[in-house]
Amino acid sequence: MRYPDSLLDDIRARLPVSQVVGRRVKLQRKGREFVGLSPFKSERTPSFTVNDQKGFYHCFATGEHGNIFTFLMKTEGVSFPEAIERLAAEAGVVLPKPTPEAAAQEDAKDKLLKVTEEAARFFEAMLAGPRGRETREYLVKRGVTLELAKRFRMGFAPDSRTALKEHLTARGFPVSAMIETGMLIAGDDIPSPYDRFRGRLIIPITDLRGKVIAFGGRGLSPDAKPKYLNSPETPLFHKGSVLFNAADARKAAHDTGDVIVVEGYMDVIALVGGGIENAVAPLGTALTENQLAMLWRMSPEPTICLDGDAAGQKAALRAADLALPQIQPGRSLRFAMLPDGLDPDDMMRQQGAGAVRSVLAATLPLIEILWRREREAEPLDTPERRAGLDRRLADLAKRIADHAVAGEYARDLRQRAREMVWQQRQAPGTRARLGVSGAKASPDWRVRELGTQRGGKPGPQKVLKPAARDELIRHSVTRKAGEPGLHREAIILRALINHPFLLDELAEEIAALAFANPMLSALRDALLALHAEKNALDRTEVTTHLTRSGHTDALGLLARAITHKSDRFAEADAPQHGVRMGLRDALAEQHKAELLEALKAAERQLMTDGSEAAWAQLLDIQMRLRVTNARVDQSSQTAGSDA
Ligand code: UTP
Ligand code: MN
Repeated sequence: MRYPDSLLDDIRARLPVSQVVGRRVKLQRKGREFVGLSPFKSERTPSFTVNDQKGFYHCFATGEHGNIFTFLMKTEGVSFPEAIERLAAEAGVVLPKPTPEAAAQEDAKDKLLKVTEEAARFFEAMLAGPRGRETREYLVKRGVTLELAKRFRMGFAPDSRTALKEHLTARGFPVSAMIETGMLIAGDDIPSPYDRFRGRLIIPITDLRGKVIAFGGRGLSPDAKPKYLNSPETPLFHKGSVLFNAADARKAAHDTGDVIVVEGYMDVIALVGGGIENAVAPLGTALTENQLAMLWRMSPEPTICLDGDAAGQKAALRAADLALPQIQPGRSLRFAMLPDGLDPDDMMRQQGAGAVRSVLAATLPLIEILWRREREAEPLDTPERRAGLDRRLADLAKRIADHAVAGEYARDLRQRAREMVWQQRQAPGTRARLGVSGAKASPDWRVRELGTQRGGKPGPQKVLKPAARDELIRHSVTRKAGEPGLHREAIILRALINHPFLLDELAEEIAALAFANPMLSALRDALLALHAEKNALDRTEVTTHLTRSGHTDALGLLARAITHKSDRFAEADAPQHGVRMGLRDALAEQHKAELLEALKAAERQLMTDGSEAAWAQLLDIQMRLRVTNARVDQSSQTAGSDA
């Protein structure tokens, strides 16, 4: 129901923001404000402020900003009405009575909830009793423990048209309520309404408060039709606005900061069984706007983890397209890619919770899966087709409503396209490794990535034709196929050589970089050695020295590094402040790339030994990545405002 603004003001007037926030964040008074560590990201220096006079909080690290209501919604995932109810109670503000119609509607719903609750109890008792034996065995076979079945209040609907109907009738419920809740099938041509769920394993579906509103029924035999039978739309149950396990997942999501979306009931149950409690599933349909909104109330970046088959991939892209217009700074989706043909339930049983965790830890950002789709939509063997890609990428970014994020997407996607084209130029004839193999581009972006990322059998990217390989060795610019950081490394060095004053400012940071390319790494070392001997170098001095000391090949590589306008900051005639800005961006990207490499290594480690230490290492790298990501964002924001 809608509350008048005056009421909200009343609550705000009585509850200082510092009181509400203070329960979650340790605040310190600083003049008129309070400061503390941001609850929206992990940080060591406080960037979160609360101002009681103005009635808001602001996080300088993430840009999060809001009042007591939004704080509760963001940090505990409650809905707006729920936040109002809770804070009103705390403030001692009495909420106005709902309108008579609304009250009547609530009453009617409460009555229906009693029917579904009683049905759930009936099914539970049936599962526990003698008639439930076959279903109990089925659960054991699927690896669902009794404890887990109880937790989800699983049940059994006996193969009878009247069992539930009679039970509910004996408890005094009218047939009309049984029909209205979808428990009975009725119709003009049906003389006597009968039980909808017959001979099935029953999985109750609850609302956000945990009240049973509907059911899913799994056929016990492999050829049951349909495999899952669900409650129809009822006054209690609107399929598109419900997520399975949302009530529990919401709580868990606030501890982990993340919520995981899987495809089916059994996937959620398997994850929870494996200790991953923040899992939800839509109910057999594609994700809806409403469900997405629910997810974003639980976590800023829900993880979409769909089955490792074509349908799952399609569903992932559908979710990506649904989310794209609505993403914001700090609000997006991530994607976890399962091995081909497995769902999370299969994977949990076959490979254990550790393997599932590592899949969930190695997510791809939204931009990555959209980029892959565009990159592989058609071959890029002609200028027209490459221009077509540029156009599609620009259009993609334009669909984002938030200007800042749209700008970032446009820039990032352009950069990706550029790097790809640049790599093609470095090694002509090896386009196949870029997954743009001319004839028919494979839509299977997921499998290709898994091949390379998980250290399994090499994906197509790693397979080079002999001629192409020779070409690569001859140029000796790429250590491994598709070395994506090469362009960035080259640009960084080119900027330093053309503007040696930057070495005075950044020598230490440059020394700490882990260049992937050995030739460029050697060039960097030579450059730093020279700088160590003599500060305030000039450009000619540097190039002469490097040429004499045998780095001509590397210099030749740098000469080809400028492929686009935005690389021009590295040129000799670029203005000083532009150079500094451009280099800072490139360095931030470099740090990020290095961390991603470390992340992959840690994942491999986790896959091989599954130790706590490996897990801790992975979490540590992920945390550093988040910090670095924030820095990349920040540096691009400053770059934007300077321009
Ligand atoms: P799947 O067919 O992927 O099944 O359906 P599953 O989740 O792996 O189930 P198991 O492991 O074979 O038991 C995914 C989801 O789609 C909906 C259900 O919500 C299911 O969990 N679905 C599927 C239906 O609603 N009806 C169906 O007939 C099949
Ligand atoms: Mn399954």
